[in-house]
Amino acid sequence: MALLLKSVTAEIRPGVGSNSFYEGDAARVLERLAEMQAGSVQLIYMDPPFATGQRFTARVRVGAGEWKSGQGSLTLPSYSDTLPPDEYLAMMRSVLWGCKRLLKPEGLIFIHLDQRMQAQVKLLADEIFGEKNFLNEIVWVYDTGGRSKRFFSRKHDIILLYAASESYDLHTEDVAAVREGERKSHMKKCVDEDGRVYRTIRSAGKVYRYYDDEPVPPSDVWTDVSQMQQKDPQRLGYDTQKPLALLERIIRCASRPGDTVLDPFCGSGTTLEAAWRLGRSFIGIDQNPMCAEYVRRRTGGASCAFYCTPCAGEPVLEIERVPGITDELVYLNRFSLTDAPEGLTLNKLDAVDSWALGTVTDGQFFTLSEEGRSFKKPELSAVLCAPLDTPDLALRVSDILGRRFFYSLQV
Ligand SMILES: C[S@@+](CC[C@H](N)C(=O)[O-])C[C@H]1O[C@@H](n2cnc3c(N)ncnc32)[C@H](O)[C@@H]1O
Repeated sequence: MALLLKSVTAEIRPGVGSNSFYEGDAARVLERLAEMQAGSVQLIYMDPPFATGQRFTARVRVGAGEWKSGQGSLTLPSYSDTLPPDEYLAMMRSVLWGCKRLLKPEGLIFIHLDQRMQAQVKLLADEIFGEKNFLNEIVWVYDTGGRSKRFFSRKHDIILLYAASESYDLHTEDVAAVREGERKSHMKKCVDEDGRVYRTIRSAGKVYRYYDDEPVPPSDVWTDVSQMQQKDPQRLGYDTQKPLALLERIIRCASRPGDTVLDPFCGSGTTLEAAWRLGRSFIGIDQNPMCAEYVRRRTGGASCAFYCTPCAGEPVLEIERVPGITDELVYLNRFSLTDAPEGLTLNKLDAVDSWALGTVTDGQFFTLSEEGRSFKKPELSAVLCAPLDTPDLALRVSDILGRRFFYSLQV
């Protein structure tokens, strides 16, 4: 027997580190966070809605077959980018103020926009962070998508970079790369006594020497970070997902291992995955309940606290418990939705994206063991184990619609 628990609002995946994901409105969550941990975040990257007027979707993979092929058949709404300009700017104002309170004095904030709102948000950010703390307007250039004949094709985004104060900590040298061919045309080529090739140029009576094999930090025009192609294996089906390489560059130069990186509009969790891979702590916020599952999958082994709203709905659950000598095995025999989208055929555990065994205390689920589908492992194991006689044993099932259901196994 399992009893659906509707009051579980947090899931804690154990381990070292203090990572978290909050489902909710960015401005409200930031306000609460700022009350608890003002001045604690080194880096904020935000990729808010761009005021496109569009409604975006996510393509979801259903069952092992679609995980194997990489093609999702289910399209779900992900978010609406339809706020009128005044409401959009009011929302951004609250979010930017929350960010300011959370940043450390050495901290940095990257605000990713396009031509629609960058001018208005720049003025807002100047007011909030101070014009003197504006460091860069980074132009991220890409070449994907179609071409317009009515105007010049728009092939760049803008990323505004502000420092929290004069004592900011930015290490552009950490993302330096050898940039072959850039200087070759207009400089004199020479070879030094060790055989290294360098170029020279005279300017204002001084001779400057640049070695070909010397890494150079990027300028504020980024042409070397590719946008994802349609069939890019990185793509998770979440519209507006950004490439991991973009976030890795930002995180590498604007934070150090152990620092906290925050993304208040984290979507499919690109920033959080990059932060985790690079040994930073992460905080993600998104109002879309589906995002917790993306984050869970992309930060597989990381400890993380997920703060999400409990789910309505009553799926059909069948489990079987087999006690052993020290552990008990719990089999997930059936999980079917009573409100599956029309026309969707779901076999045995197709509706399940991931599931876990844990314990529930004070409305919090503490994960003991977990199973989820991934690109590398599309099949979902239907058995998990927990120490025998675990008090308050509970079960979490996350479905393909991005919802989480918690059950007490104590009944
Ligand atoms: C452009 S997408 C972010 C994509 C993300 N960078 C990625 O790589 O997947 C913007 C995200 O902001 C979220 N969002 C929109 N308004 C929000 C709000 N007021 N509070 C929190 N999240 C919000 C949307 O649900 C969406 O996931």
